Amino acid sequence: MAQILISPLQGILSHFRFILTLRSEEGKYHGLILFRLSTDSPSNPQIYVMEATCPHLGAEMSHADIEEYEDSVVAVCPWHRYDFDLKTGKSETGLRTCTYAVEVKFDPDSHQDQIWMEAPEGGKNWRIVELRPVSEEFADQPPSPPNPSTKSDTTVAPYAQETTGPVVPDIDPPKTLMEWAVLILNTPNPTLKVERTRYAVHAYRTGAILSIGHKVTSPPIPPAQPPRETYMNIVDPGKIQSGKRKNRAVMLHALANIEQWAIDLAWDIMVRFGPMHKDLPPAFFSDFAKMALDESKHFSLLHARLASLATPYGSLPVHASLWDSATLTSKSLLSRLAIIHLVHEARGLDVNPKTIEKFRKAGDKESVDVLEIIHADEVTHVTAGHRWFVWMCEQQQRKKNSKEAGMEQASAYVDPIQAFREEVRRCWRGDIKGPFNVEDREKAGLSPEFYEDLRGEMPYQDEEVKKVEIVKSSPAKQELKESDEDITIDRVQTALAAVSVAYES
Ligand code: FES
Repeated sequence: MAQILISPLQGILSHFRFILTLRSEEGKYHGLILFRLSTDSPSNPQIYVMEATCPHLGAEMSHADIEEYEDSVVAVCPWHRYDFDLKTGKSETGLRTCTYAVEVKFDPDSHQDQIWMEAPEGGKNWRIVELRPVSEEFADQPPSPPNPSTKSDTTVAPYAQETTGPVVPDIDPPKTLMEWAVLILNTPNPTLKVERTRYAVHAYRTGAILSIGHKVTSPPIPPAQPPRETYMNIVDPGKIQSGKRKNRAVMLHALANIEQWAIDLAWDIMVRFGPMHKDLPPAFFSDFAKMALDESKHFSLLHARLASLATPYGSLPVHASLWDSATLTSKSLLSRLAIIHLVHEARGLDVNPKTIEKFRKAGDKESVDVLEIIHADEVTHVTAGHRWFVWMCEQQQRKKNSKEAGMEQASAYVDPIQAFREEVRRCWRGDIKGPFNVEDREKAGLSPEFYEDLRGEMPYQDEEVKKVEIVKSSPAKQELKESDEDITIDRVQTALAAVSVAYES
């Protein structure tokens, strides 16, 4: 029986449950949950690994209740309370989930106990790409209660005080995850957007929301572009002058703006593409709900840093260029995953370490801590982008095979690398720029074959050519370095990189 090394035993003593993500040599993904039960003897732990989603209707098992009966231990699904034996995977309902044998072995080289698990079927050379505690500090804070009169916290930023509302609307509150997505997308107040995200994701995980809602005949429609508060000064990216971006607060403000858009992007991908692809499994929604929650956490952390630097969020101009890419890719999930998650977010992996170093050199330890949390989460977001991009390629392959029955399987193969390069050529302008953070890209599933020597061939619209000419001839532009020039011309696509390079200049 093939086994996979999960972690040294020491590495899982901080929490009792972990999300495990595996990737095979072929690029397949598998989501699992690890439960460590408390025992009298820490050296003899009870550890169980089972599927991350319930086989009934796909609820996340991360918030399952663990109950002990005589000689068995069961995980009780938060949605409809089906129980699954942690050893056998059997449920009294007759359903069954997969469980995996776990073994603790002493490693004489490292002189420590290590946890190994049985490898799943359906792939070769599985390895762990994520081992994340479920009980993250932010994620597990109890959300605001579902009291219609509950108001969001407006004590941090005066700019957020003007328009707030109840976390759960008084009239016609959302019932499904898709309805929550549209409500959150239509919430202009950033603090309320964060609180609603926290509430909705917690409710989804714990069974207070029992339906994703993407298969209904009339799914809710997301806005073309999420609204912003009237006090936000949204300007063309070219008008945010590089020369003024040199202080830490301005830099953090730019990042907070990107995080606010990133919350929207995570909800938008669920509600825009869920109804178009009714075969998307619950794990897709779990991944992007987790992403929405992460981006909310990032926004909150940056928001708090800005408050401590006396630069409240909303007090500086921002741009909406990240949403331009969302609009451009609003018709195709494959394009959306490629451009937003495997180009923009992957570019974040390249530039974040440099940015962190700048803050470290400036002696801003608090911001360094925040940016390191953000960077670690962003690796998992690119991983999710890769996971669902590969999944989409597999679906296309299946469709081709069913259309062309009798055809050799290999001839219908949709290669994710070639598919990605094709999407970038179609939906991107200019080079995919390095230098690349090869190590973190690799962790996220992106080997250099995906992105090296790649250039987008999408033509500029007339209007955009004019804007680029204006930017190129503006006085601020004359001050830019060569690297900034490319970024300005690419205007839309490199918003994340621009922030870092601007700080560098
Ligand atoms: S019992 Fe788990 S989704 Fe219904």
